[in-house]
Amino acid sequence: MSFPRRGFIKAAVTAGMVTSPLLGTASPAAERSTMPPMNPADWASVRSQFSLSPEQVHLSNFFLASNPLPVREAMARHREAFDRNPYTYLEDHMFAKPEDMLWRQVTSAAARYIGGRPEDVALTTSTTQGLALIYNGLRLRPGQEILTTEHEWYTHDEAMRLANLKSGASIRRISLYGQRSDVSAEAMVAKVQAAVRANTRVVAMTWVHSGSGVRLPIQAMAHMLAEANKQRSEDQQILFVVDGVHGFGCVDEDVAQLGCDFFSAGTHKWILGPHGTGVLWAKPERWKLISPTIPSLMAPELNNAWRQERAPQGPTEAAWVSPGGFMAFENQWGTLEAFEFIQRIGRQRIAERVAELNGQLKQGLLAMPHVTLHTPLEAQHSAGIVCCEVQGRTPREVVAELKQQNIIASATPYRHSTVRFSAGIVNSPADIDKALAAMAKLG
Ligand SMILES: Cc1ncc(COP(=O)(O)O)c(C=O)c1O
Repeated sequence: MSFPRRGFIKAAVTAGMVTSPLLGTASPAAERSTMPPMNPADWASVRSQFSLSPEQVHLSNFFLASNPLPVREAMARHREAFDRNPYTYLEDHMFAKPEDMLWRQVTSAAARYIGGRPEDVALTTSTTQGLALIYNGLRLRPGQEILTTEHEWYTHDEAMRLANLKSGASIRRISLYGQRSDVSAEAMVAKVQAAVRANTRVVAMTWVHSGSGVRLPIQAMAHMLAEANKQRSEDQQILFVVDGVHGFGCVDEDVAQLGCDFFSAGTHKWILGPHGTGVLWAKPERWKLISPTIPSLMAPELNNAWRQERAPQGPTEAAWVSPGGFMAFENQWGTLEAFEFIQRIGRQRIAERVAELNGQLKQGLLAMPHVTLHTPLEAQHSAGIVCCEVQGRTPREVVAELKQQNIIASATPYRHSTVRFSAGIVNSPADIDKALAAMAKLG
């Protein structure tokens, strides 16, 4: 089933119902008035909730989300209310009564998705910010180390480096795999296990590597580290930090059950939330290890302590770590509708769809003699990112040629660059066929 949404909007523009003259920039309210309600069981109906340009095949949405209609409506509603009466709207929804504080609804929605408690969710502006808050907050000591990999994204590496400049701790990197065929959960866990040393205080991993599409066995790694921790004193426990952004929203796992200690993910990628939003989750017993970096507006105790000229009482809580200062509240609060949107469709269904579409893509690429596929075929070793190379062309050349054919892919900005595709719930099997046809032409 499909909805001729553009036709409706065009008619509405002509009839003067929609204020913007450009298709796709209609106000969310006007758009809503022209659309049937979403049927979450129908992928074409789900796709109709997005303003993505229909003439292109969008295979880079993991990068920055196009927001579905309910999220755009929420942001517009908050924006309008702020424009009418900024003081009262902020006071009423941020400071007056706990039950009216909208950030609490966001942490509750995030906690439902994570399978944990709202009080263990801090709200950030990105994966990067959350990681920086962890590494700065842990305040490692000289002599301690962070054990990580050669596969991390720049901002993860940089968050560790910047924090260690201050703490004096060191960083050691290991390789978890070489070729696609090397990827094995047992081997990756064994490599981390063999690399851990007495002075390893943090193990820092990424759930799904954005330079290869490889998904790590986080739960098995966490289990192995928990065993190692049984031999360690409290202040020498290995803390497991995960950059989870490319699994969060496309893999069907409760983050709170993964076993890691700290988990940072933007909600502006696979969660489809407003730009500049993210969550930082930690196990309840680990928050106390974090010293907040940025003053929070969500922690009454911190504010009371300042007013009363005393030190804050009690261990750090997630709310203490949520960065404050006034911000784009319309975006932070619009994250509620993003979680609701994906929960309506269902985490498992989304994960299956992402696996199916990216599986179709990988199989098609594998069959092309001029293409080298870097992402494992197995669903347990991959998620929604597919990386490959084309013989005789640089990744940037491939991306430019695909763009000419209306296929939106990306070139990975890693030391070794590859061509990167990513199919999500806005895509269809027909989109994948088009992308494969365009790739076949490059042979
Ligand atoms: C693995 C990984 N971590 C972190 C980030 C940065 O995410 P954010 O923009 O939410 O900071 C990216 C960017 O896509 C990434 O690929």
